[in-house]
Amino acid sequence: MAEAHTGTPEKDDEDRLTEAEIAVHWKEESFFHPTPKFIGQANLTDPAVVESFQEKHFPECFRAYADLLTWDKYWTTTLDTSNPPFWKWFVGGKLNVSYNCVDRNLAKYGNKAAIIWVSEAEDEPVVSITYQELYVRVNEMAAVLRDSCGLKTGDRVTIHMPMVPELPVTMLACARLGVIHSVVFGGFSGEACGARIVDSGSRVLITMDGYYRSGKLLDHKVNADIAVKKAESDGTKVEKVLVWKRFSGKYSSPTPMVEGRDHFVDDLLKHHRGALVPPVSMPAEAPLFLMYTSGSTGKPKGCQHSTGGYLAYVTATSKFIQDIHPTDIYWCMADIGWITGHSYIVYGPLALAATSVMYEGVPTYPDAGRVWRIAERLGVNIFHTSPTSIRMLRKLGPDEPKKYHYHFKCMTTVGEPIEPEAWLWYYNTVGRREAAITDTWWQTENGGFLCSTKPALDPMKPGSAGPPMLGIYPVIYDEHGKEIPPGAGKAGNICIRNPWPGILQTIWGDPDRFVKNYYAKYNKDKNSKDWRDWPYFAGDGAVWAGDGYIRILGRVDDVINVAGHRLGTKELESACLTVPEIAEAAVVPIVDAERGRVPEVYVSLKPGVKAGPEIAEKVTKAIETTIGKIARPKAVRIVPDMPKTRSGKIMRRVLAAISNEMDYGDITTLSNPEVVEQIRVQVQGAGPVKKKTAPEDIRRFGETT
Ligand code: PRX
Repeated sequence: MAEAHTGTPEKDDEDRLTEAEIAVHWKEESFFHPTPKFIGQANLTDPAVVESFQEKHFPECFRAYADLLTWDKYWTTTLDTSNPPFWKWFVGGKLNVSYNCVDRNLAKYGNKAAIIWVSEAEDEPVVSITYQELYVRVNEMAAVLRDSCGLKTGDRVTIHMPMVPELPVTMLACARLGVIHSVVFGGFSGEACGARIVDSGSRVLITMDGYYRSGKLLDHKVNADIAVKKAESDGTKVEKVLVWKRFSGKYSSPTPMVEGRDHFVDDLLKHHRGALVPPVSMPAEAPLFLMYTSGSTGKPKGCQHSTGGYLAYVTATSKFIQDIHPTDIYWCMADIGWITGHSYIVYGPLALAATSVMYEGVPTYPDAGRVWRIAERLGVNIFHTSPTSIRMLRKLGPDEPKKYHYHFKCMTTVGEPIEPEAWLWYYNTVGRREAAITDTWWQTENGGFLCSTKPALDPMKPGSAGPPMLGIYPVIYDEHGKEIPPGAGKAGNICIRNPWPGILQTIWGDPDRFVKNYYAKYNKDKNSKDWRDWPYFAGDGAVWAGDGYIRILGRVDDVINVAGHRLGTKELESACLTVPEIAEAAVVPIVDAERGRVPEVYVSLKPGVKAGPEIAEKVTKAIETTIGKIARPKAVRIVPDMPKTRSGKIMRRVLAAISNEMDYGDITTLSNPEVVEQIRVQVQGAGPVKKKTAPEDIRRFGETT
């Protein structure tokens, strides 16, 4: 183990390596240790717990996770592996998620804030919702869903809402009835929402009239109309659209309500005041929710998460890794429309009776001090965010945190690799060298963390997520299935050898894709009933150091991680092809100092069409309409032709090399090698070929397509 120390001053900006250089020449960093004060109060300090999760105790070790929940009926089989890789956890058990997150906290914590909500508008009062009030609101909303909408256990509902308390209220109301929710990120376009409505087969869409973003009150209801239209054109009829109001009693959208289809939630709630809806006792294996994420094809995957396994996993990891106690004020800055928000704003923290802070808007609105003012005002002591936000907050206000009085006992980073320079600012300036940092690696599919330090037990190493989580047994394989052992100093594809309770159950409606996507690559015997033959392929490159710490290098497939959000290149390409002038499109990731990666688009035009800035604008607009603003490309390059193999496949690898100023390697096998140089000059200008080094995910991009 490297020499321990408690903090180094930050280096000057000029000394900063680019992310590309770091990924290639990354040196192993020194270890940092949690403070005795943190260890003194932490939930997980007993190394015997770690011992109890050794492989020889699998799968029964996970009983300890499930025992954190209140079960209506205790399970009989901890893990059923009879139909690999469709694992079943806690079989025979029954429970209700809304009961576990709300009702069971009433006796001790009824008067304590469950959710504290902060509007983006700084002069709007902060809203605190106690567990008692949450209980009442969830029950009333459950009555709306059941009695006014006719929803029942197993139905799906799509929720397209911003970061407002009504969102967790709606999710918990669904969970109370065993209705499967599919929350679509509020920033996704109406069309993207519509596509997800169709895939999930939702008859009801729940939305809100508007919300604040960078100081503007956006019209969100308009997206519902687009979503319903899109769903109908694809054969799914949405019967009801429920519309929450951002301001009580006042409709804030210019988009009219549609007679007979659209209903204001506050009107419906009037019929159910004081209603009590008994929580439906659900089998542990019943689906709790769907969360759509991007994959290698154009169609988003509906990751199906379970009731018992999922809740057990997020509750335990919230307790042991986030170190949440009921007395803590916990703030995760993610959006509930992503998996981080589901697991670590709503379900994990509430199951532990914590106070979970929600913030509506942009972290740097109206200025770079906003986040720290919120932390100071609310007494936040656990903070959770992404490297993109850390980089942005650092850039706009490197000394801003020093002006505010708050104290974080621990902090989390999630979603992308964090370069050591950003980590050190987080540690030294935001955390004041008091806060233990957990760098948590996981995915939408995983339910909860897969790699992270255990904050009171393991020292931190900047840039490395850390050792595998309790009961998670990874392996790193090369492309041919040969194991790369820890300490080999070589990168490979990280897989998890065993099932765990938080793992997705399947891809909604597409079990074959589920098997193909996550298991086919390294499974050697598809008839095997032994879980050891079914390593889960995560789609990330990683290096496992000799000290047991894992450093995640990024995606090895056609997924681009933009500011911690997953976008499939195929989804973006399909959006480009909706522009009538476009013949072909290829999307590649480029390294961006703040947002990690951003998409760059190459298009070729149909014969007779003249290139011009209006075409590039149309392409950008098409992406925003089909997916959302978050997918906006850094540049749209109109090229004379795409570099292609003799069989006509677009060589995205070559385009990614040009965009990232890397050596594009051997192109002699292309059918049109001459176009490569033309494109290079168009993108980089004349001059010698640039040969920068790039991170693993960029170097490997396009290998498989
Ligand atoms: O590439 C990894 C990266 O984010 C991907 C998963 O994205 P998503 O499903 O949207 O979930 C994000 C939040 C859980 C992974 O395949 N990633 C996530 N966390 C980390 C990370 N990369 C490096 N370090 C992390 N801590």
